[in-house]
Amino acid sequence: MASRALVAVTLLVAAGCRPEDVIHSFSWFSAMVTQRSIKPYAMPRDPVEGTVPVTGLEPVVDLSTADRLVNPRTRTSESINRGKFVYETYCLVCHGEAGHGDGPISSAAGGPFFGVRSVVTDTVARRSDGYLYGVIANAQTVGRPLMPRYGDKVRGVDRWDLVNYVRTLQALARSGVGR
Ligand code: HEC
Repeated sequence: MASRALVAVTLLVAAGCRPEDVIHSFSWFSAMVTQRSIKPYAMPRDPVEGTVPVTGLEPVVDLSTADRLVNPRTRTSESINRGKFVYETYCLVCHGEAGHGDGPISSAAGGPFFGVRSVVTDTVARRSDGYLYGVIANAQTVGRPLMPRYGDKVRGVDRWDLVNYVRTLQALARSGVGR
């Protein structure tokens, strides 16, 4: 039996099939790729109960604390350029290049995502830097539940650089550029 399998494999390989594909078609060859393990992204693995974060927890930013946050990043071109990069990576798909809420996946542009707001209206321009930071960290906790959470993707000073870039978009909208 085994020798027949060997002949079959040899013939298939000789016929130009890739050896690894041939081996996988015979169940008695155990290949590590087919093992009974949980594949990456197949199932979320929660930390073991009682796990303590070693990097500390982030304080929740809500409407009562947001306005007290102080932007530590000066609006230098370095900060704004970094913010632009982060905006184009994470925000543009919904909010659009100029911030009007018309990015490719927003319903305003025929996409599937409803409720996307403009980030360049006068109302948003009057909001504090801390509010914008709060939306980026977790829109839920500052009363914008329709926006997914980005605090796990945009971290550290990147959030403030993003705030600085949103300010740039607001200034451009005010001056009539980018409409
Ligand atoms: C998947 C789509 C989506 C992405 C991506 C997204 N947002 Fe939003 N955003 C929304 C929606 C929807 C709302 C309105 C939420 C609500 O009203 O509950 C919103 C609201 C906002 C607001 C509040 C506007 C107001 O009127 O108060 C700001 C500011 C904002 N987003 C900034 C950002 C930034 C910065 C990023 C990039 C990290 C981002 N958003 C990424 C969908 C998105």
